[in-house]
Amino acid sequence: MLILDLSKLIPTNWYIMIGTKLKRTLRFYINLRSDLRNMENLFAVKEIEKKDIQHIVQYWSTISTSHLESMGIKREELYIYANLGEYIEKQISLPYEQKSALFMIGLIDGKPYGHCYVNSIKFREEAHMHLHIWNSDRRQKGLGSQMVKRSIPYFFKNLEIKNLISEPYYLNSAPNKTLVKLGFQFEKCYVSKPSGWNFELKVHRWKLTKPVFKEKFM
Ligand SMILES: CC(C)(COP(=O)(O)OP(=O)(O)OC[C@H]1O[C@@H](n2cnc3c(N)ncnc32)[C@H](O)[C@@H]1OP(=O)(O)O)[C@@H](O)C(=O)NCCC(=O)NCCS
Repeated sequence: MLILDLSKLIPTNWYIMIGTKLKRTLRFYINLRSDLRNMENLFAVKEIEKKDIQHIVQYWSTISTSHLESMGIKREELYIYANLGEYIEKQISLPYEQKSALFMIGLIDGKPYGHCYVNSIKFREEAHMHLHIWNSDRRQKGLGSQMVKRSIPYFFKNLEIKNLISEPYYLNSAPNKTLVKLGFQFEKCYVSKPSGWNFELKVHRWKLTKPVFKEKFM
Protein backbone atom coordinates (compact mmCIF):
# COMPACT_ATOMS: atom_id res chain seq x y z
CA MET A 1 0.00 0.00 0.00
CA LEU A 2 1.26 3.46 -0.89
CA ILE A 3 1.33 5.82 2.05
CA LEU A 4 1.82 9.47 1.17
CA ASP A 5 4.16 11.32 3.46
CA LEU A 6 3.26 14.97 2.80
CA SER A 7 6.23 16.26 4.75
CA LYS A 8 8.41 14.74 2.08
CA LEU A 9 6.38 16.18 -0.79
CA ILE A 10 6.00 19.75 0.53
CA PRO A 11 9.23 21.58 1.27
CA THR A 12 9.59 23.07 4.77
CA ASN A 13 9.79 26.63 3.48
CA TRP A 14 6.28 26.21 2.02
CA TYR A 15 4.93 25.52 5.52
CA ILE A 16 6.63 28.69 6.75
CA MET A 17 5.19 30.70 3.84
CA ILE A 18 1.64 29.36 4.36
CA GLY A 19 1.90 29.97 8.12
CA THR A 20 3.03 33.57 7.59
CA LYS A 21 0.20 34.21 5.11
CA LEU A 22 -2.38 32.77 7.50
CA LYS A 23 -1.04 34.91 10.33
CA ARG A 24 -1.20 38.04 8.14
CA THR A 25 -4.81 37.27 7.05
CA LEU A 26 -5.84 36.70 10.66
CA ARG A 27 -4.21 39.95 11.77
CA PHE A 28 -5.98 41.78 8.89
CA TYR A 29 -9.41 40.54 10.04
CA ILE A 30 -8.70 41.32 13.70
CA ASN A 31 -7.67 44.89 12.76
CA LEU A 32 -10.71 45.23 10.49
CA ARG A 33 -13.03 44.22 13.35
CA SER A 34 -11.49 46.74 15.69
CA ASP A 35 -11.59 49.48 12.97
CA LEU A 36 -15.30 48.76 12.45
CA ARG A 37 -15.91 48.90 16.21
CA ASN A 38 -14.09 52.24 16.38
CA MET A 39 -16.17 53.54 13.44
CA GLU A 40 -19.40 52.48 15.18
CA ASN A 41 -18.29 54.56 18.16
CA LEU A 42 -18.05 57.65 15.95
CA PHE A 43 -21.82 57.57 15.34
CA ALA A 44 -24.37 59.04 17.73
CA VAL A 45 -27.75 60.75 17.79
CA LYS A 46 -29.16 63.42 20.06
CA GLU A 47 -32.52 65.04 20.52
CA ILE A 48 -32.61 68.30 18.61
CA GLU A 49 -31.49 71.51 20.30
CA LYS A 50 -32.30 75.08 19.17
CA LYS A 51 -28.86 75.47 17.57
CA ASP A 52 -29.58 72.52 15.20
CA ILE A 53 -32.75 74.03 13.71
CA GLN A 54 -30.75 76.12 11.19
CA HIS A 55 -29.47 72.91 9.50
CA ILE A 56 -32.97 71.61 8.86
CA VAL A 57 -34.21 74.99 7.62
CA GLN A 58 -31.16 75.25 5.33
CA TYR A 59 -31.78 71.71 4.00
CA TRP A 60 -35.37 72.48 2.99
CA SER A 61 -34.65 75.96 1.66
CA THR A 62 -31.87 74.81 -0.71
CA ILE A 63 -33.44 71.54 -1.83
CA SER A 64 -33.57 70.79 -5.58
CA THR A 65 -36.80 70.13 -7.48
CA SER A 66 -35.59 66.66 -8.53
CA HIS A 67 -34.84 65.74 -4.92
CA LEU A 68 -38.30 66.96 -3.92
CA GLU A 69 -39.91 64.91 -6.68
CA SER A 70 -38.00 61.79 -5.63
CA MET A 71 -39.76 62.15 -2.27
CA GLY A 72 -43.15 62.91 -3.82
CA ILE A 73 -43.24 66.56 -2.73
CA LYS A 74 -44.54 69.51 -4.76
CA ARG A 75 -42.28 72.57 -4.74
CA GLU A 76 -45.30 74.91 -4.65
CA GLU A 77 -46.42 73.24 -1.40
CA LEU A 78 -43.12 74.09 0.29
CA TYR A 79 -44.64 77.28 1.69
CA ILE A 80 -45.53 74.98 4.59
CA TYR A 81 -41.88 75.26 5.56
CA ALA A 82 -41.98 79.05 5.87
CA ASN A 83 -42.52 78.68 9.61
CA LEU A 84 -40.51 75.50 10.00
CA GLY A 85 -37.97 77.03 12.41
CA GLU A 86 -40.71 78.30 14.72
CA TYR A 87 -42.57 75.00 14.47
CA ILE A 88 -39.50 72.97 15.53
CA GLU A 89 -38.70 75.42 18.33
CA LYS A 90 -42.23 75.02 19.66
CA GLN A 91 -41.92 71.22 19.49
CA ILE A 92 -38.66 71.30 21.45
CA SER A 93 -40.41 73.18 24.26
CA LEU A 94 -43.30 70.73 24.62
CA PRO A 95 -43.36 67.64 26.88
CA TYR A 96 -43.38 64.32 25.03
CA GLU A 97 -47.11 63.76 25.64
CA GLN A 98 -47.93 67.01 23.82
CA LYS A 99 -45.44 66.95 20.95
CA SER A 100 -46.74 66.55 17.41
CA ALA A 101 -43.17 65.97 16.16
CA LEU A 102 -39.92 64.73 17.71
CA PHE A 103 -36.63 65.45 15.93
CA MET A 104 -33.38 63.54 16.33
CA ILE A 105 -30.05 64.72 14.90
CA GLY A 106 -27.50 62.26 13.45
CA LEU A 107 -23.89 62.93 14.49
CA ILE A 108 -20.59 61.64 13.20
CA ASP A 109 -17.60 62.45 15.35
CA GLY A 110 -19.82 64.98 17.15
CA LYS A 111 -20.83 66.81 13.95
CA PRO A 112 -24.45 66.88 12.70
CA TYR A 113 -25.18 65.35 9.27
CA GLY A 114 -28.92 64.65 9.10
CA HIS A 115 -32.19 64.34 10.94
CA CYS A 116 -34.69 61.61 11.60
CA TYR A 117 -38.03 62.67 12.99
CA VAL A 118 -41.51 61.48 13.70
CA ASN A 119 -44.75 63.39 13.27
CA SER A 120 -48.46 62.48 13.37
CA ILE A 121 -47.70 61.33 16.90
CA LYS A 122 -50.43 59.51 18.76
CA PHE A 123 -48.85 59.25 22.21
CA ARG A 124 -48.69 55.65 23.47
CA GLU A 125 -49.99 54.48 20.07
CA GLU A 126 -47.97 55.29 16.95
CA ALA A 127 -45.88 57.85 15.08
CA HIS A 128 -44.74 58.35 11.46
CA MET A 129 -41.00 58.45 10.79
CA HIS A 130 -38.99 60.40 8.18
CA LEU A 131 -35.26 60.35 7.43
CA HIS A 132 -32.91 62.83 5.75
CA ILE A 133 -29.16 63.10 5.20
CA TRP A 134 -28.63 66.77 4.37
CA ASN A 135 -25.71 66.56 1.95
CA SER A 136 -26.15 64.31 -1.10
CA ASP A 137 -22.39 63.46 -1.05
CA ARG A 138 -22.87 61.75 2.30
CA ARG A 139 -25.72 59.47 1.21
CA GLN A 140 -25.32 55.76 0.44
CA LYS A 141 -22.42 55.44 2.87
CA GLY A 142 -24.28 53.87 5.78
CA LEU A 143 -24.92 57.15 7.65
CA GLY A 144 -28.69 56.96 7.21
CA SER A 145 -28.91 53.46 8.68
CA GLN A 146 -26.70 54.48 11.60
CA MET A 147 -28.85 57.52 12.35
CA VAL A 148 -32.19 55.71 12.11
CA LYS A 149 -30.95 52.66 14.06
CA ARG A 150 -29.98 54.94 16.94
CA SER A 151 -33.10 57.16 16.77
CA ILE A 152 -35.67 54.35 16.89
CA PRO A 153 -35.13 53.51 20.60
CA TYR A 154 -35.74 57.19 21.49
CA PHE A 155 -39.08 57.17 19.69
CA PHE A 156 -40.27 53.97 21.35
CA LYS A 157 -39.05 54.98 24.81
CA ASN A 158 -40.12 58.62 24.97
CA LEU A 159 -43.40 58.42 23.05
CA GLU A 160 -44.26 54.99 24.49
CA ILE A 161 -45.56 53.97 21.09
CA LYS A 162 -46.70 50.50 20.04
CA ASN A 163 -45.93 50.98 16.34
CA LEU A 164 -43.51 53.05 14.32
CA ILE A 165 -44.74 53.69 10.77
CA SER A 166 -42.92 54.98 7.71
CA GLU A 167 -44.46 55.59 4.28
CA PRO A 168 -41.88 56.56 1.66
CA TYR A 169 -42.69 57.09 -2.00
CA TYR A 170 -42.59 53.60 -3.53
CA LEU A 171 -40.01 54.64 -6.15
CA ASN A 172 -37.63 56.14 -3.59
CA SER A 173 -35.27 53.19 -3.08
CA ALA A 174 -33.04 54.74 -0.39
CA PRO A 175 -35.59 54.97 2.46
CA ASN A 176 -37.36 51.75 1.40
CA LYS A 177 -34.09 49.79 1.54
CA THR A 178 -33.01 51.46 4.78
CA LEU A 179 -36.28 50.51 6.48
CA VAL A 180 -36.17 46.87 5.41
CA LYS A 181 -32.55 46.66 6.56
CA LEU A 182 -33.56 47.88 10.03
CA GLY A 183 -36.30 45.31 10.50
CA PHE A 184 -39.42 47.21 9.42
CA GLN A 185 -42.10 44.93 8.02
CA PHE A 186 -43.78 45.68 4.72
CA GLU A 187 -47.52 46.21 5.16
CA LYS A 188 -48.86 47.38 1.80
CA CYS A 189 -48.39 49.53 -1.25
CA TYR A 190 -51.20 52.03 -1.67
CA VAL A 191 -52.07 55.49 -2.94
CA SER A 192 -51.90 58.11 -0.22
CA LYS A 193 -51.16 61.75 0.53
CA PRO A 194 -48.84 61.24 3.50
CA SER A 195 -48.48 64.96 4.31
CA GLY A 196 -49.91 68.30 3.26
CA TRP A 197 -46.99 68.95 0.89
CA ASN A 198 -47.07 65.56 -0.86
CA PHE A 199 -48.95 65.03 -4.06
CA GLU A 200 -51.16 61.96 -4.12
CA LEU A 201 -48.68 59.16 -4.59
CA LYS A 202 -48.06 55.46 -4.29
CA VAL A 203 -46.30 54.71 -1.01
CA HIS A 204 -44.91 51.63 0.67
CA ARG A 205 -46.21 51.38 4.21
CA TRP A 206 -43.64 49.91 6.63
CA LYS A 207 -44.21 49.12 10.28
CA LEU A 208 -41.93 48.36 13.21
CA THR A 209 -43.96 46.88 16.04
CA LYS A 210 -42.89 47.04 19.69
CA PRO A 211 -42.24 43.28 19.94
CA VAL A 212 -40.01 43.37 16.83
CA PHE A 213 -38.29 46.49 18.17
CA LYS A 214 -37.57 44.71 21.48
CA GLU A 215 -36.26 41.63 19.69
CA LYS A 216 -33.96 43.55 17.33
CA PHE A 217 -32.89 46.57 19.35
CA MET A 218 -32.74 45.58 23.02
C1 LIG B 1 -33.00 57.95 2.84
C2 LIG B 1 -31.63 58.22 3.39
C3 LIG B 1 -31.74 58.89 4.75
C4 LIG B 1 -30.88 56.86 3.56
O1 LIG B 1 -29.60 57.12 4.08
P1 LIG B 1 -28.28 56.59 3.35
O2 LIG B 1 -27.14 56.96 4.22
O3 LIG B 1 -28.26 57.09 1.95
O4 LIG B 1 -28.53 55.02 3.33
P2 LIG B 1 -27.50 53.87 3.75
O5 LIG B 1 -26.18 54.15 3.09
O6 LIG B 1 -27.51 53.71 5.22
O7 LIG B 1 -28.13 52.63 3.02
C5 LIG B 1 -29.17 51.86 3.56
C6 LIG B 1 -29.62 50.85 2.51
O8 LIG B 1 -30.27 51.54 1.44
C7 LIG B 1 -29.61 51.28 0.20
N1 LIG B 1 -29.61 52.54 -0.55
C8 LIG B 1 -29.29 53.77 -0.09
N2 LIG B 1 -29.45 54.68 -1.06
C9 LIG B 1 -29.88 54.02 -2.15
C10 LIG B 1 -30.23 54.43 -3.47
N3 LIG B 1 -30.16 55.71 -3.84
N4 LIG B 1 -30.64 53.46 -4.35
C11 LIG B 1 -30.72 52.17 -3.97
N5 LIG B 1 -30.42 51.72 -2.71
C12 LIG B 1 -29.99 52.64 -1.83
C13 LIG B 1 -28.21 50.87 0.58
O9 LIG B 1 -27.62 50.06 -0.42
C14 LIG B 1 -28.45 50.11 1.87
O10 LIG B 1 -28.94 48.80 1.66
P3 LIG B 1 -27.95 47.52 1.79
O11 LIG B 1 -27.21 47.67 3.08
O12 LIG B 1 -28.93 46.39 1.77
O13 LIG B 1 -27.06 47.61 0.61
C15 LIG B 1 -30.80 59.13 2.43
O14 LIG B 1 -30.53 58.45 1.24
C16 LIG B 1 -31.47 60.46 2.12
O15 LIG B 1 -31.36 61.40 2.88
N6 LIG B 1 -32.18 60.53 0.95
C17 LIG B 1 -32.82 61.76 0.55
C18 LIG B 1 -34.00 62.10 1.44
C19 LIG B 1 -35.09 61.05 1.33
O16 LIG B 1 -35.40 60.56 0.26
N7 LIG B 1 -35.68 60.76 2.49
C20 LIG B 1 -36.79 59.85 2.57
C21 LIG B 1 -38.05 60.63 2.61
S1 LIG B 1 -39.35 59.54 3.11
